Amino acid sequence: MSRSIFLLIFLATLAGFTALPANSEDPYRYFTWVVTYGKISPLGQPQQGILINGQFPGPTLDCVTNDNIIVNVVNKIDEFILITWNQLPIPPNTNWTYKMQTKDQIGTFTYFLSTTFHRAAGGFGAFNINQRSVISIPYPAPSGEFNLLVGDWYKANHKGLRKRLDSGKALPFPNGLLINGAPQGMRFTGQKGKTYKFRVSNVGIDTSINFRIQGHTVTLIEVEGSHTQQEVYESLDIHVGQSVTVLVTLNREVKDYFIVASTRFTKPVLNATTVLCYEGSTAPPSLPLPVGPTCHVHWSMKQARTIRLNLTANAARPNPQGSYRYKLIPIVRTIVLANTETQINNKLRYAVNGISYVDPETPLKLADYFNISGVFTLNSIKDYPPPGSPLLGTSVIGTNLHDFVEIVFQNNEKYVQSWHLDGSSFYVVGFGSGQWTKDMRRRYNMDDAIVRHTVQVYPRSWSTILVSLDKKGMWNLRSAIWVRRYLGQQLYIRVWNDETSLYTENDIPTNALLCGKAKLS
Ligand SMILES: *[C@@H]1O[C@H](CO)[C@@H](O)[C@H](O)[C@H]1NC(C)=O
Ligand SMILES: *[C@@H]1O[C@H](CO)[C@@H](O)[C@H](O)[C@H]1NC(C)=O
Ligand SMILES: *[C@@H]1O[C@H](CO)[C@@H](O)[C@H](O)[C@H]1NC(C)=O
Ligand SMILES: *[C@@H]1O[C@H](CO)[C@@H](O)[C@H](O)[C@H]1NC(C)=O
Repeated sequence: MSRSIFLLIFLATLAGFTALPANSEDPYRYFTWVVTYGKISPLGQPQQGILINGQFPGPTLDCVTNDNIIVNVVNKIDEFILITWNQLPIPPNTNWTYKMQTKDQIGTFTYFLSTTFHRAAGGFGAFNINQRSVISIPYPAPSGEFNLLVGDWYKANHKGLRKRLDSGKALPFPNGLLINGAPQGMRFTGQKGKTYKFRVSNVGIDTSINFRIQGHTVTLIEVEGSHTQQEVYESLDIHVGQSVTVLVTLNREVKDYFIVASTRFTKPVLNATTVLCYEGSTAPPSLPLPVGPTCHVHWSMKQARTIRLNLTANAARPNPQGSYRYKLIPIVRTIVLANTETQINNKLRYAVNGISYVDPETPLKLADYFNISGVFTLNSIKDYPPPGSPLLGTSVIGTNLHDFVEIVFQNNEKYVQSWHLDGSSFYVVGFGSGQWTKDMRRRYNMDDAIVRHTVQVYPRSWSTILVSLDKKGMWNLRSAIWVRRYLGQQLYIRVWNDETSLYTENDIPTNALLCGKAKLS
């Protein structure tokens, strides 16, 4: 088997989805998904996309907290595929049945094919987890709901994009912006006077977006599994990999209105539109499109600080989200991670604290499980950005189970960043401009910071998260901006203690492909 195949193994799971043996008391939902190539023309001209059951985007997965989801995935493309929520890649022309439980989650998520640029070709979809009937939600039940998957798009297929990066070159600016697979034309219909839920995710690979509805405000209720304080916005920024849920009341005259997404911090600005139709409307939406922020960084940072946890609202379990008082927990370690763009061997690479990540031949998780030496060295990456030129390496930060850690993302580049952590959601306690120093802690929100799995870092700015590492394993901390991740802007956090326990770490799947050095042991 080729090296690239080994690299696909044991990418970690999406925050919170537990691949434990299914629990028989909770309901089961069965799906069969056939993954194929197919011709799509989202920007007018035909290109090769990745379809699930013939659909682009893929089917919406609707379920309820604690449901057991059984998905038989049939891989009909010529490359290994890996879906976000699991660790086992599926070889071409074979199938694999994923079993997982949507444990302790309510909210708007997405699934996608998480390796080798498949996300740039399709294979993604909405993943909605609704509350169990015993859980009350902090807003009146809406009259209906809509999913909007918004993302930048390239006319080149994923192999073309990958080839360009492998040759050491950057990607050009995306060719367009799509909502549910099209730059315009989609329609959502509702009745005057009623309130609807809109689930909006940024499924792109490169650019932040702004979302707005002509003539209407949106009320934010949830981000990535946390109920927020219900603030009203004219428009909302959503960064790569993030999801939000908003309520919209149809309280204007009966006609059609534009729903707009536009790219942030880019030149030119790309727009995508859909239409919100009032039932009975005969009037098309009127131009101009509602204007949104384009390059305004300060505007976005200010908005980000208003996205806060509703401490008294339920989470997936009937206890208030604020019952866990993170302010009182001692921080055991501070890690400052600086991203840089660099050239190594005359090729474009991205590095974190001087190391541009490369996968080892033996998958990290197997090396760890089988105590194989020489695959990685714990803490080869420093806790603070070191001086000197970046090198290639396999960065693993060693931590202990239940460590409460402060991670500062320091972005000295002129591009907005988006960072995702697998396995755990985190508190987003602060955003600021310039260089982070310890004094910045005085500005942290230590009362009602939002909990999510992906955080943006503004140009020449920092963002701080606090995370309780409560799940054993090797967890990927990565740029959600796909080019950066592909070219090294990622690392792993090893969360460990001395006991072996099925309750703190998913056991190695019995059919795990043993490879690299693990094959010998
Ligand atoms: C593959 O699909 C077949 C038929 O749909 C099913 O019976 C079988 O269990 C699947 N295999 C795996 C490994 O999931
Ligand atoms: C917070 O949640 C509570 C309890 O469900 C709800 O009554 C309240 O309106 C929410 N507050 C805000 C500001 O969203
Ligand atoms: C796209 O949106 C931006 C930002 O609101 C605006 O400046 C631009 O004119 C729009 N382009 C088109 C073609 O409407
Ligand atoms: C690896 O080492 C740990 C601690 O030294 C031990 O508990 C564990 O059983 C070892 N695992 C294997 C597969 O040898």
